[in-house]
Amino acid sequence: MEKIIVVYYSNKGSNKYLAEKISKSLSCEIEEIKPRLNIFLLFLMNIHMGINPLKHTISEYDKVILCGPIWMGKLIPPLRSLIKKYFDQINKLIFVTCCGSADAKKDEKFGHGLVFKEVGNVLKDKCILCQAFPIGMVLPDDKKEDTDAFMKTHLNDENFKGEIKNRLESFIGTVIRMNKL
Ligand SMILES: Cc1cc2nc3c(=O)[nH]c(=O)nc-3n(C[C@H](O)[C@H](O)[C@H](O)COP(=O)(O)O)c2cc1C
Repeated sequence: MEKIIVVYYSNKGSNKYLAEKISKSLSCEIEEIKPRLNIFLLFLMNIHMGINPLKHTISEYDKVILCGPIWMGKLIPPLRSLIKKYFDQINKLIFVTCCGSADAKKDEKFGHGLVFKEVGNVLKDKCILCQAFPIGMVLPDDKKEDTDAFMKTHLNDENFKGEIKNRLESFIGTVIRMNKL
């Protein structure tokens, strides 16, 4: 069986929740990315000082599942730093995000599709899969397009059910199938 590690960054907790679900489902290691300077506003201005070294040795893992949010349609500084710092050690990478953009809007300016393309461009054939878990999946139909509602919503045991839970199960199935190939 291949070795997998989930590496994540989360500001408000949704991507931490998702990363923990993935690691539990795959019974694999997990580690949080710790920026040297964890100041959200500076990240938004693209000012960042890199990340602290990971405790795990990334080259020992066949696959890294990188999980984190999307802000302003960009690959956020802590995730970008992780990829840059560990590029040579990464064997294969799967990018996962709990983001605000819905699937139908993935190719718009702030959509996750553009970030997926960027991850693919940076990692080339090291990137084998990208998967979004839009936060709108846990909102009622009349709130799915409501920016204010999804900014205030965070994944938790209460709301992690239905569509998003099914998507996680399908994602885990895909990763397990890839591991058997
Ligand atoms: C300042 C800011 C900008 C954001 N911009 C985007 C965006 O461009 N595209 C998107 O899909 N989601 C966007 N989001 C939504 C976050 O990706 C979403 O809330 C995510 O679940 C937060 O993850 P966290 O709880 O792990 O920090 C933005 C959120 C914030 C706070």
